[in-house]
Amino acid sequence: MSAARPVALVTGASSGIGEAFAIALAQRGHDVVVVARRADVLGDLATRLRTDSGAEVEVLAADLATDAGVAAVAERLGDPNRPVDLLVNNAGVGTMGRFWELPVEKEAAEVALNVVAVMRLTHAALGPMVGRGRGGVINVSSISAYQPIPRHATYGATKAFVSSFTNAVHEELRGTGVKAMVLAPGYTRTGFQADGFDPKGLPEMVWQQPDEVVAGALKAYDRGRAVCVTGAINVATVAATSVLPAGITRKVAGALTRRAY
Ligand SMILES: NC(=O)c1ccc[n+]([C@@H]2O[C@H](COP(=O)([O-])OP(=O)(O)OC[C@H]3O[C@@H](n4cnc5c(N)ncnc54)[C@H](OP(=O)(O)O)[C@@H]3O)[C@@H](O)[C@H]2O)c1
Repeated sequence: MSAARPVALVTGASSGIGEAFAIALAQRGHDVVVVARRADVLGDLATRLRTDSGAEVEVLAADLATDAGVAAVAERLGDPNRPVDLLVNNAGVGTMGRFWELPVEKEAAEVALNVVAVMRLTHAALGPMVGRGRGGVINVSSISAYQPIPRHATYGATKAFVSSFTNAVHEELRGTGVKAMVLAPGYTRTGFQADGFDPKGLPEMVWQQPDEVVAGALKAYDRGRAVCVTGAINVATVAATSVLPAGITRKVAGALTRRAY
């Protein structure tokens, strides 16, 4: 990593929103540490980033649903000789179906990745950042955080954790020079759909592209926002959710997912 350029570490950089973060940050002048399980895909991305943006890129292959994978990335975040200025906790998965019919080990792995890894890596990053008096973390949640999501019960609950946790840490960081922001995208065209997370019958206007989500996120991060919900439709959805009674939003979410899958 070059001494002159800030360094960003992006998890889930091999696809979708994480890949878009890595590209946008390299274009903004960051060197980038890219993290995911697929080392070959990360290697191809690293080559592109070096060629297109002149960034230095480090590939760190790790399974963040495992203790060993999280420890390897936490160690990188804590390395005093190679400080990281921005952590983007983006890697995440979503299962779908009626909870009791899903394999419980897969649900537990989802919690390990979406919750435990986010908490541990945020912890590993913030200590050194607060010590230096600068830096920040963007934790990727979802508009699914704002109400229970029947047929994505575990997923919605993991994202509710990410949102609540990051909002609280944002407040704790006041006066330290370090930032924490939660990003809550809505439906975004990524590898999530290839994974089967592909609701049918949604109007085209609700979908966003990963680069739009990331552009909105980085603008909000620059302004020091605690929360970034991307896209006018998602902002309106979240606003409606916050004023409607919980019993109604739960039933509406259940009706929508029953129809969509
Ligand atoms: N797409 C949407 O509609 C949407 C909406 C709201 C929020 N989000 C959130 O956005 C984030 C990014 O998702 P995406 O939509 O960009 O999906 P994606 O294209 O499927 O990307 C997921 C990324 O996470 C990585 N990943 C998955 N399991 C991992 C593990 N165990 N260890 C390390 N990395 C792992 C994947 O890489 P490898 O397979 O190489 O490990 C991939 O790079 C997630 O947190 C998701 O919840 C997505």
